[in-house]
Amino acid sequence: MSFPLTLTVNGVKRNVVLDDPRVTLLDLLRERLDLTGTKKGCDRGQCGACTILVDGRRVNACLALAVSHDGAEIKTIEGVAEGERLHPVQAAFIEHDGFQCGFCTPGQIMSALGLIAEGQAGSDPERIREAMSGNLCRCSAYAGIVEAVLDAQKKLAEGSRRSAA
Ligand code: FES
Ligand code: FES
Repeated sequence: MSFPLTLTVNGVKRNVVLDDPRVTLLDLLRERLDLTGTKKGCDRGQCGACTILVDGRRVNACLALAVSHDGAEIKTIEGVAEGERLHPVQAAFIEHDGFQCGFCTPGQIMSALGLIAEGQAGSDPERIREAMSGNLCRCSAYAGIVEAVLDAQKKLAEGSRRSAA
């Protein structure tokens, strides 16, 4: 039996035919679409390394069945920068040393993007820690990650105030 589905991944329409309904979005991205920026850590919803945005919301791709997301808009780390220009969240992770080995970083950045878009980040580091608690970092770069999210969301808010003025 085959399962055709269409996804928009980083703005590009992708038609895929699966032969197994158990394929996760994570495996589809990494193994079928060659988008390996999304990492497989635990493969059971416990580390956040596989975080992507599905229709603008943060999702653990290892827990999401691809067939359940026919028609969805997917954003992965590969779709965050604009050409050579880093997204402010990416730039803030570099500026604030929000990583060491970098394995968790794509998931951290996608989670931060979702969090900021949800309008939940605020300016309280504790709140950011709580809202990012599903994203583990084996290198324990948490202090830099929180600073990066705070800084990026401040810069993004300033940018949107400027463009509204
Ligand atoms: Fe998905 Fe760990 S790989 S949460
Ligand atoms: Fe190494 Fe987070 S930077 S796991």
